Amino acid sequence: MSEKHATLTIEDKSYTLPIVEGTEGDKALDIRTLRKTTGYITLDSGYMNTGSCSSEITFLDGELGILNYRGYGIEELAENCSFVEVAYLLLIGELPNREQLNDFRGLMSRFALIHEDLIHFFDHFPPKAKPMSILSTMVNTLSNFYPEMREDSDEELLIIAARLLSKIRTLAAFSYKKSEGHPLIYPRYDLSYCGNFLNMMFDKPVKPYVVHPEVVATLNKLLILHADHEQNCSTSTVRLVGSAGVNLYTSISAGISALWGPLHGGANQAVIEMLEAIHRDNNDFEKYIKKAKDPNDKFRLSGFGHRVYKTFDPRATIIKQACAQTLKALNVDDPLLEIAMQLEEIARSDDYFISRNLYPNVDFYSGIIYRAMGIPTNMFTVMFAMGRLPGWISHWTEMMQDTKDRKIGRPRQVYLGPKKRDFVPIHERK
Ligand code: ACO
Repeated sequence: MSEKHATLTIEDKSYTLPIVEGTEGDKALDIRTLRKTTGYITLDSGYMNTGSCSSEITFLDGELGILNYRGYGIEELAENCSFVEVAYLLLIGELPNREQLNDFRGLMSRFALIHEDLIHFFDHFPPKAKPMSILSTMVNTLSNFYPEMREDSDEELLIIAARLLSKIRTLAAFSYKKSEGHPLIYPRYDLSYCGNFLNMMFDKPVKPYVVHPEVVATLNKLLILHADHEQNCSTSTVRLVGSAGVNLYTSISAGISALWGPLHGGANQAVIEMLEAIHRDNNDFEKYIKKAKDPNDKFRLSGFGHRVYKTFDPRATIIKQACAQTLKALNVDDPLLEIAMQLEEIARSDDYFISRNLYPNVDFYSGIIYRAMGIPTNMFTVMFAMGRLPGWISHWTEMMQDTKDRKIGRPRQVYLGPKKRDFVPIHERK
């Protein structure tokens, strides 16, 4: 805690508020006793200026475009690590040594199967069921099949995390296979986290899938870039639900539901739908830019803008590069890549987007890579959920282990409805 203070004056009375400084220089006014001492609350819709917790997991500077997990730059992690390694880092706080990584991978293999009874659940969704709804339901259902564990030691935490990380991958691939009406492909112990997922998605008894190292490397990178993003909408949801004492599976199921929204993780699907629409309209960029700028039109450029980043999203920069490389390696010529690049160029030279600091975000180019990998559009947000899982688990755990500051999440409000009035019996109502 810093020694600095701020002074707040309300109606000629002054109050002292402590200033909290983060390790990277971020500053906050500590208003935890504000209501008690002044009678006032703060009003901050969308929590634009509200820190809901302190955290040691991820640092993000939206003005400078910096994103670090546990102190390591996202660029270095994406270049040099596997997703499983980064998941370990987020969960435990340190990069694993070789033995620790092998043990964690071993746990993933041990937990890769799902209970056979769970598979019957898939049969009762309608054929056109939305994969994010299936995923959220199935993750919640896991709480009925697997025991709740305490996350008190690193060892227990790694077991909990490995079970969920491994099973979500199997559930995601099974939900796709079910939607296609294809036989399920079970996990294999000889494949990596990403290789296993791709194999469960695309292997067919009549046409074996060959795991392409380039695709595995790109998927690793994408999952790492999505692995955490501090107090975003879905992570805050996980924390809020968990703050009521709810188990991990159910808290994460709520996070998956939050991620589904097109203003959040669902944007990766919305981007592709938007690019396809532009393509169908013979690349009529002007029409879509005009719609996006019209305050009376609900349409927005999907994959553009961010609550925190007011410069380039560092994840988007890496993904844009990976996108061109992956398409080249897979020999895929997707007209949507050219459309996306042109749209970005037009938007970034337009005063509307410049003055509002609107840049491409993590979702702008990721969908084009998923398409090239053969992943269907309605599975894009499921891919995001798989990536974000280590972050959700780490935040839930950090909150649960915080015995000092842990409180049930319960914001206040300013009431603007009718003042107290007399009840009118039904026969007297007009
Ligand atoms: N297209 C057009 N205008 C935009 C866009 C956009 N994509 N994003 C923001 N704006 C405009 C707003 O209309 C507003 O204009 P105004 O000042 O004239 O009213 C201004 O920019 C500020 O936007 P807000 O909505 O106030 O910003 P906020 O921080 O609340 O929203 C959000 C951030 C939701 C990401 C927004 O930029 C958006 O809707 N983007 C498109 C959806 C998207 O890509 N979401 C994924 C985000 S990344 C993630 O969650 C993984």
